[in-house]
Amino acid sequence: MYEHDEPQDGHNNIPKGWLLFFFGTIIFLISYIALYTPAISGWSFYKKFDKEMADAAKTEKTIVAKSYAGDKEAITKGKELFANNCAPCHNADATGGIGPNLTAAKLKYGGTEKDINESITAGRPNGMPPFLPQLGADNISKVTAFLATLKKP
Ligand code: HEC
Repeated sequence: MYEHDEPQDGHNNIPKGWLLFFFGTIIFLISYIALYTPAISGWSFYKKFDKEMADAAKTEKTIVAKSYAGDKEAITKGKELFANNCAPCHNADATGGIGPNLTAAKLKYGGTEKDINESITAGRPNGMPPFLPQLGADNISKVTAFLATLKKP
């Protein structure tokens, strides 16, 4: 059948690079399965997820609303925002209407910048709507700065 004398078996060596790739793949697969199988390595997607959620919650708590106290331009903008969004319920001079008097020395939910910012951002149970979707955090800080200028000492 063969027209020449050379032996046909055993002289086509598999290239080294291919062998390396072949065994490399097997080793990679075995390590990968071992590493990401909870019963073997203890790795768990749920653990990773819980850690990410805990980290995110921590960051969220440390976000402090920007303070515009004393910033004239921001206060003017805050006044305008108050007239358009808040005056219908709190009166144009913030002395109250449907909603309470915001110039009062003592506020029910607290009168610090942070308290007022929270009241506006998230709303309050007895009829104060949350304004974060309409105004955004930055504008709310400007309204807060405006309200601080109305405070009776
Ligand atoms: C639909 C009417 C309405 C609008 C609009 C409204 N508020 Fe109110 N607001 C209320 C009511 C009612 C309360 C009392 C809520 C409560 O006692 O739980 C309140 C409470 C508050 C409080 C807390 C007062 C306290 O005593 O602790 C602040 C601060 C406040 N509003 C600011 C604002 C600002 C700033 C705006 C505009 C961005 C605004 N509100 C728009 C009705 C309104």
